[in-house]
Amino acid sequence: MTDKDKPETIPTDQLIRLLLTLKEEAEDQIRQSDVSYEELRLSLFGKESELTKLSQSMRLVPKEDKQRVGIVLNQVKQSLEQLLSKKAKESGLVNEDWMDVTAPGIRPPEGHLHIVTQAIEEITQIFNKLGFTRVRHPEVDWDYYAFESLNMPHSHPASDEWETFFINLTPGVKEVHTPGVRSIVLTPHTSNGQVREMEKGILPIRMINIAKCYRRQIDVSHTPMFHQFEGLYIDKNVSIGHLKGVLDYFAKAFFGPDRKTRIRPFHFQFTEPSFEVDISCGICNGKGCRLCKEGWLELGGAGMVHPVVLKNGQIDTTIYNGFAFGWGVERSLMMKSGTQLDDIRPLYNNDVRFLEQF
Ligand code: FA5
Repeated sequence: MTDKDKPETIPTDQLIRLLLTLKEEAEDQIRQSDVSYEELRLSLFGKESELTKLSQSMRLVPKEDKQRVGIVLNQVKQSLEQLLSKKAKESGLVNEDWMDVTAPGIRPPEGHLHIVTQAIEEITQIFNKLGFTRVRHPEVDWDYYAFESLNMPHSHPASDEWETFFINLTPGVKEVHTPGVRSIVLTPHTSNGQVREMEKGILPIRMINIAKCYRRQIDVSHTPMFHQFEGLYIDKNVSIGHLKGVLDYFAKAFFGPDRKTRIRPFHFQFTEPSFEVDISCGICNGKGCRLCKEGWLELGGAGMVHPVVLKNGQIDTTIYNGFAFGWGVERSLMMKSGTQLDDIRPLYNNDVRFLEQF
């Protein structure tokens, strides 16, 4: 074996001595130096520093001594780092609240639209395809628009069905239409938009009014605040066939082609003839469960607009007629395939664990 072939080594004790000497020198340097923290750190621990060069000599240490030298090397590094950061803190060279700008950030929790808002968007889009435009009307309105204009005079018992929240007028506020103590209401249905839309005087009308409604009710299928969507179509020669066509189109688009709808004769003061529209229950598939009781769930009412209502909206009943319908958004959602909601109330309990499932 020639000298050239012999593996290069370094005597262990010599390397340890060099490390300890370096430690002492570096400690003096840290104590006395007035260069910046970064500069000092680079000169002590940087690629070109003595300490890095000595660390690289580790590969020349005989195998059996590597652990001994490694311990000394680490102690030297740690003690210098501690001294350096102590000095930096004392002299205000670095902030106590040191921040690693390269550390991955904490992702803020991402929210999404509430399931009811999502349903409102979907309903709007389905009706848009049929030419119905979404409009907005007041959610706190005159008794006149909520009842009287809809063929329910002040003392008419029909209005009792709406379990309405009435608001006392602030003294001094000017009353419009029929004056009375019950003149302002939290709208119990979106039908208040019917005469308001007609009063715009633009014909034909194809509106979809989606808004909050309020009633004094709460149970598995009722909340005191809920949403309805109200369709109104006024044109020449409108028939019940058109109404059925629109309702069927919506039911198939929103609930899926397998779900069944049915129309039952009913009575509303503001439509003639009037119907109630039901859809087969998506929870029990029409067998009957705690939500639907008999396999069907009522979605809402519909009918041909009553001539009195048209007249209240200044519409010439010799030329125009039309249909209207008003359904619950939450109820529609509960009946949608895949939602599997058998209680309406969790929608408004504000429990994120429930809401984030949708
Ligand atoms: C009405 O409110 C009529 N204005 C509907 C209408 C419009 C008929 C146009 C004819 C022409 P009803 O009171 O049945 O009807 O309510 C309609 C739907 O709103 C109900 O079927 C139900 O889906 C929903 N709804 C009613 N009350 C509540 C409530 N407290 N919580 C949740 N949804 C409700």
